[in-house]
Amino acid sequence: MLDLSWPLVRSVLFRLDAERAHHLTLWGLEHLGRPIGAMARLAGGTPPASLARRLGPLTLPGPVGLAAGLDKDGVAIPFWPSLGFGFVEVGTVTAHPQPGNPTPRLFRFPRDRAIVNRMGFNNHGSEALASRLRRLRESGRWPDVPVGANVGKSKVTPLEEASGDYATSVRRLQGLVDWFTVNVSSPNTPGLRQLQGAAFLSELLHTVLDASDGTPVLLKLSPDLSDEAIDSAVELAKQAGVTGIVATNTTIGRDGLTRDPGEAGGMSGRPLWPLARDRIGRVLQAAGDLPVVGVGGIEDAEQVRELLDAGCAAVQLYSSLIFQGPGLIHRMNRSLEGS
Ligand SMILES: Cc1cc2nc3c(=O)[nH]c(=O)nc-3n(C[C@H](O)[C@H](O)[C@H](O)COP(=O)(O)O)c2cc1C
Repeated sequence: MLDLSWPLVRSVLFRLDAERAHHLTLWGLEHLGRPIGAMARLAGGTPPASLARRLGPLTLPGPVGLAAGLDKDGVAIPFWPSLGFGFVEVGTVTAHPQPGNPTPRLFRFPRDRAIVNRMGFNNHGSEALASRLRRLRESGRWPDVPVGANVGKSKVTPLEEASGDYATSVRRLQGLVDWFTVNVSSPNTPGLRQLQGAAFLSELLHTVLDASDGTPVLLKLSPDLSDEAIDSAVELAKQAGVTGIVATNTTIGRDGLTRDPGEAGGMSGRPLWPLARDRIGRVLQAAGDLPVVGVGGIEDAEQVRELLDAGCAAVQLYSSLIFQGPGLIHRMNRSLEGS
């Protein structure tokens, strides 16, 4: 049903400006998520029990999760599991609500199945997310898959005060989410990626771990890091006591994009895969026993299988859902069950 209607829905959405299509879709899912979700669940079911995974202390009903950035303010949380996702990451949220960068800031490349974005953490802030999560929990519609919050630095906060900014969000959301992801890898907040360096990272992670009060913390890394930078970030993360690493975020590179219009921002989707795959390999090597969530350009079950076989605890995706539509995760789960 979802697969049948998708070509039509996609042709309408792809005629719209990318950000307008995004807001329209999320508005629809916020307000009509229940009936659409019921249809999706009917069509796809839940991930087969054999696909359940562990991510540190968390049990994931399926190995494929929703990556951060699609549902920044957590408006459609009960809906995502109906597509077959085994875990859902909302955010990035920041301590201060902020509008993000000027538009246009989101660009689709359908032929390359790629997206370039420089959204700049547009979000309603972690306080608004906390209230929404509280209401959702009280409503009894909290989903039966782990939900995590990705936290980042507010643009107005200087880099030197970043730890306090992250900790504010974590304290507000503590007790409401199943894990936190510390995002130090978005290319769209000036200076943010410097937080991956030794000078900032250790203090940042210790502060966040203190504030998280036992809720698992993951660290999300960029695919543009060198081997040495990955090794050092993973080592610091281990020493600080994080639960795992998410690799990777978007790249500032443009390899694989057939037509580069020169828009600044992070690239995701199909052209990211070779780089992300390579960097995930390095992260796995450095991580040892520390769980790794693989993300970056995943489009089919073979790539999911490859990453799980390579040692990833689970995977996430965003861009391929935009190009392939809502039946993608159920198709992946069915195919993984058979492999
Ligand atoms: C439009 C857009 C917005 C994103 N926003 C965020 C974000 O707020 N925080 C974050 O950690 N990652 C963000 N990402 C990165 C994704 O979570 C993911 O790491 C990246 O897109 C690679 O996966 P993909 O190729 O499956 O999309 C965003 C990606 C896209 C396409």
